[in-house]
Amino acid sequence: MDNGFDSASDDHAAVRNRCYRPATPFITDRRQSVQTMTRTALITGASGGIGSATARELGEDHDVVIHYNSDREGAESVAADVRNAGQKALTHQCDLQDPAAIETMVETAREEFGGIDVLVNNAGVLHAAALETATDDVIQQTLRVNLEGALYCAREVLPDMRENGRGWIINISSTAGTTGSPTDAAYGASKCGLIGLTKSLAKQYTEEGIFTNTVAPGPAKTKMYAEERRPAAREKSPINRLVNPEEVAEVIRMFATTESVTGQTLTVDGGISL
Ligand SMILES: NC(=O)c1ccc[n+]([C@@H]2O[C@H](COP(=O)([O-])OP(=O)(O)OC[C@H]3O[C@@H](n4cnc5c(N)ncnc54)[C@H](OP(=O)(O)O)[C@@H]3O)[C@@H](O)[C@H]2O)c1
Repeated sequence: MDNGFDSASDDHAAVRNRCYRPATPFITDRRQSVQTMTRTALITGASGGIGSATARELGEDHDVVIHYNSDREGAESVAADVRNAGQKALTHQCDLQDPAAIETMVETAREEFGGIDVLVNNAGVLHAAALETATDDVIQQTLRVNLEGALYCAREVLPDMRENGRGWIINISSTAGTTGSPTDAAYGASKCGLIGLTKSLAKQYTEEGIFTNTVAPGPAKTKMYAEERRPAAREKSPINRLVNPEEVAEVIRMFATTESVTGQTLTVDGGISL
């Protein structure tokens, strides 16, 4: 059957037939097939920083669910920009420490948009607490928001992605996850865990057309990376500056459209960790 995709081998053609079901019955150009489908992206922690830059980036051609926890104003401002760009936007509040609230968020998105095609697990917390002084609350919140939240979000969106035969999951880790954190072991552990999650999902679901990758930013110009830490990071950086959230968002877009890269981690740090 001519499904409009280049055929590298019969095996690959069989996988593609399962992966891509064009919205229109006959589409001859492969890139066009992906680009013309209106896709929906759920971005956690999209009220500010890297998440809001990602929502604006993907919101140029995706409908977007803008998740937030406490910053409703920030989320609404991002939603207004997405709507101005001509796409649909839905804001949704939930604490990612609550699995039931995550289930409700994805159910709400399903009712509004019919399912999620792209999940960006971006929300995160950093306490910069040395392990011997870290309280139970700090350790648990770090792991729950940064790692468990991503697991639960992925669990909730996977059934729709499998049903549709396509999906993109991007986990936002950190160089703290690839090289370790000198100041916060719980943060480093949570971010390293995301890389394991990425590889596991890629191993299990790529055959079904679901691509999972990790973006690992270095020091980025957001409220998470406090002003007083910035001069030292600048000094260490070959580009002599912090990375901008928009630059991370561009890399996230690449992983939100890939049809071949999966299970990978891409560092976006201007070369600091080289
Ligand atoms: N900035 C950096 O230097 C850097 C470096 C490496 C990796 N990262 C990673 O990049 C991601 C984005 O960070 P950012 O720099 O953009 O930080 P940010 O501006 O502080 O954004 C963090 C986001 O996470 C959300 N969040 C916090 N606690 C939450 C909770 N309990 N439940 C749900 N959402 C919660 C926040 O929501 P509200 O504001 O609405 O409460 C906010 O939208 C994080 O995963 C971070 O670890 C950042």
